[in-house]
Amino acid sequence: MKTAKIKVERNFQIGRIDRRIYGSFIEHLGRAVYGGIYEPGHETADEDGFRRDVLELVKEIGVPAVRYPGGNFVSAYNWEDGVGPAAERPRRLELAWQSVEPNEVGTNEFMKWAGKAGAEVIMAVNLGTRGVDAARNLVEYCNHDSGSYYSDLRRSHGVKEPHRIRTWCLGNEMDGPWQMGHKTAEEYGRLACEAANAMRAVDPDIELVACGSSNHVIKTFGSWELAVLEECYDQVDYISLHTYYKNRAKDTANFLAKTLDMDRQISDVIALCDAAGAVKRSKKKINLSFDEWNVWYHSDSRKKGNWQAAPPILEDIYNVEDALAVGSMLITLLRHADRVKIACLAQLVNVIGAIMTETGGSAWRQTIFYPYMHASRYGRGRVLDAKITSEKYDCREYTDVPYLDAVVTEQEGELTVFALNRGEEELHLTCDIQGYGTYSVKEHITLYDTDRYASNTAACPNRVVPRRDGNAAVEDGCCHAVLKPLSWNVIRISAGTVKKYETR
Ligand code: AHR
Repeated sequence: MKTAKIKVERNFQIGRIDRRIYGSFIEHLGRAVYGGIYEPGHETADEDGFRRDVLELVKEIGVPAVRYPGGNFVSAYNWEDGVGPAAERPRRLELAWQSVEPNEVGTNEFMKWAGKAGAEVIMAVNLGTRGVDAARNLVEYCNHDSGSYYSDLRRSHGVKEPHRIRTWCLGNEMDGPWQMGHKTAEEYGRLACEAANAMRAVDPDIELVACGSSNHVIKTFGSWELAVLEECYDQVDYISLHTYYKNRAKDTANFLAKTLDMDRQISDVIALCDAAGAVKRSKKKINLSFDEWNVWYHSDSRKKGNWQAAPPILEDIYNVEDALAVGSMLITLLRHADRVKIACLAQLVNVIGAIMTETGGSAWRQTIFYPYMHASRYGRGRVLDAKITSEKYDCREYTDVPYLDAVVTEQEGELTVFALNRGEEELHLTCDIQGYGTYSVKEHITLYDTDRYASNTAACPNRVVPRRDGNAAVEDGCCHAVLKPLSWNVIRISAGTVKKYETR
């Protein structure tokens, strides 16, 4: 059996967890909005046309924040199209995904949905085809109380109280040639700086996210961040990162090692932010918003919407190993909780989503729903500075990959160990928690399957579900557990009755 060790000290921590690290993302893309969160006429639809079955699943996860309305969509979006009397709203050609946008759902409807879901909204502005003016007007529409053109317009639309949106994204993936209104780093940096100044002049309390590179391998990675921050370091609070992983080669060992790259991407962006700050002799630190991350490769990403409204595109059906990869991505984000303050699983419903629906039919949890829900529910509080040692393996693209990927969080005295066994054999984990006195295991949740390609479908929505069959137990100040081959594990430890460790 392979072995791995974790040691935690209660006085040493990486950082506090910002709840927005468990954010998600809903874009006007495919069936995310229409047929996803919104479907008047559906048997579960509420008085506003929102699907209650989907809302229940979103609440089950405990999604604290949702980025909206894009994504590539936002770069050619006129926010004014989505407010005011619904019958007067235009149907527009949606250029990024070649669909038709009916504008039945816009800012106020989405804010209402997010309120019902218990999530705050991270709003993106269009810095592709539009600019400073549209951005500052949207802030005025959303956040100003009354007595000005746009705040009174909102009130005339039936929304008396301002939305008070705290976090705003200055465009989306502006480094990508696929983006409507794509810009050079200097052009974008200048625009982000001026948009930020105008938006803050309307509401000084907002926080702003500048676009970083749209992935780690794009040629301009690094030079983009430095040039953008040269222009807008003083104006912004966060820089964005995006990444999506694939496993076309069906090489599980390599796929599950991809988070080594995610870890490197985060460290690289921290280094770039700090270098930009050093050049400016700035005391301010720019934090990270990993506002798009997921597995994405099962659907054909080149398939566009064929100028239909709500076309079924980017509907990846996730399997067990995707859930393991998502768990590892969550662990990676948490290990950088001192600098990664926002992260958004892209996306939430139907489009590369944690939740799937049939239009006119049921809603169910994809495999990736579970690690996301576990982290969001049990990974609050702070991240401890755990020392982890593990046996390692080499694979196609990576060397020295630890079999164990893990992080330990603590909230109100309760410890949670999130642990992934990347290996095809059992892994014996010892977690030294000496400093925690008479602690014991509350539960050891697992997610694994003999068929790593198993997934949940409308016909079989509970084919893959977590179990409470882990054997973790505390003995002499150490938590011992045998982690099943290719398994996601959540071990919750707190003060309480001592459960004996049994090897089998
Ligand atoms: O999440 C799907 C798409 O991926 C987003 O629209 C875009 O920002 C990214 O390329």
